[in-house]
Amino acid sequence: MAVLVVGGSGFLGRELVGQSLAAGHQVAATCLTQPPDLVGPAWHALDVRDRRQVADLVTAIEPDVVINAAYRKADWSSTADGAAHVALAAASAGARLVHVSSDAVFSGAAVRYDETSVPDPIAPYGAAKAAAETAVTAICPDAVIARTSLIIGDGGSVHEQRVRALATGRMSGVLFTDEVRCPVHVADLAAALLELASSDHAGIHHVAGADAVSRHELGTLIARRDGLDAAALPSGRRAGTDLPGPLDVRLDCTATRQRLRTELRGARQFLGH
Ligand SMILES: NC(=O)c1ccc[n+]([C@@H]2O[C@H](COP(=O)([O-])OP(=O)(O)OC[C@H]3O[C@@H](n4cnc5c(N)ncnc54)[C@H](OP(=O)(O)O)[C@@H]3O)[C@@H](O)[C@H]2O)c1
Repeated sequence: MAVLVVGGSGFLGRELVGQSLAAGHQVAATCLTQPPDLVGPAWHALDVRDRRQVADLVTAIEPDVVINAAYRKADWSSTADGAAHVALAAASAGARLVHVSSDAVFSGAAVRYDETSVPDPIAPYGAAKAAAETAVTAICPDAVIARTSLIIGDGGSVHEQRVRALATGRMSGVLFTDEVRCPVHVADLAAALLELASSDHAGIHHVAGADAVSRHELGTLIARRDGLDAAALPSGRRAGTDLPGPLDVRLDCTATRQRLRTELRGARQFLGH
């Protein structure tokens, strides 16, 4: 299978590239700035905000599958317009599209959300991800849209780096006890996305971990795994702050799990408890 990973230089993108290569796929990948130190794929510079650039690259590569893991949290154009440009290019090349979305499309008012839940974003990032979903669905009705939650690895994610910095006093701030998500391991997520890519499933899928944990519990699990003093992690409540975004969002993945062979472990399991 010829796979194009858009945003291949990102945290999830690098895992997708690695697993695709290990599975024997022909892999091309994109970065916005600089290709990472990862040999194997053909690297291409790509700015998804440029519709023509995206179309030209996808036409030149002729991939069977495009997986879009590119985004920039504070940039509507990269996250929303860029997703539409990738969908247009995939549709015109006849490639299957797997688009990565987020639990940030939900407000948290309902706490638990399944694949039939309608987005009700309350912050700019969630609104851009919801707009991207709408564009992808309209342009590529057969695409998979995979909503996920906090992506954790074996040390390399931004979330793990922040916990280490907080636990060692290199950073100030707190981990919220009332902000709850269903973190997923990057290896499980990438495997699930590749499994969905080679299936004929379409539409919204929820691809998150089995455990709902607060940011503070997640930090504690990471600190313990890394041999750090979890008691040193500062805690606090997010409710009452003026930070934009939802408090408690739990992706119900029941329907997606029934379709997948890939196990989506919970944070308590993959972080060692
Ligand atoms: N991280 C999480 O906890 C989390 C949670 C829920 C959902 N998600 C979703 O998961 C996906 C991947 O997240 P991630 O954490 O792997 O992201 P990441 O590490 O920040 O990587 C983002 C990727 O997008 C690329 N990019 C940014 N702006 C671009 C542009 N204008 N044109 C082309 N490429 C651009 C970056 O390229 P450069 O490396 O060159 O800058 C990088 O390859 C995203 O769709 C995100 O919304 C993430």
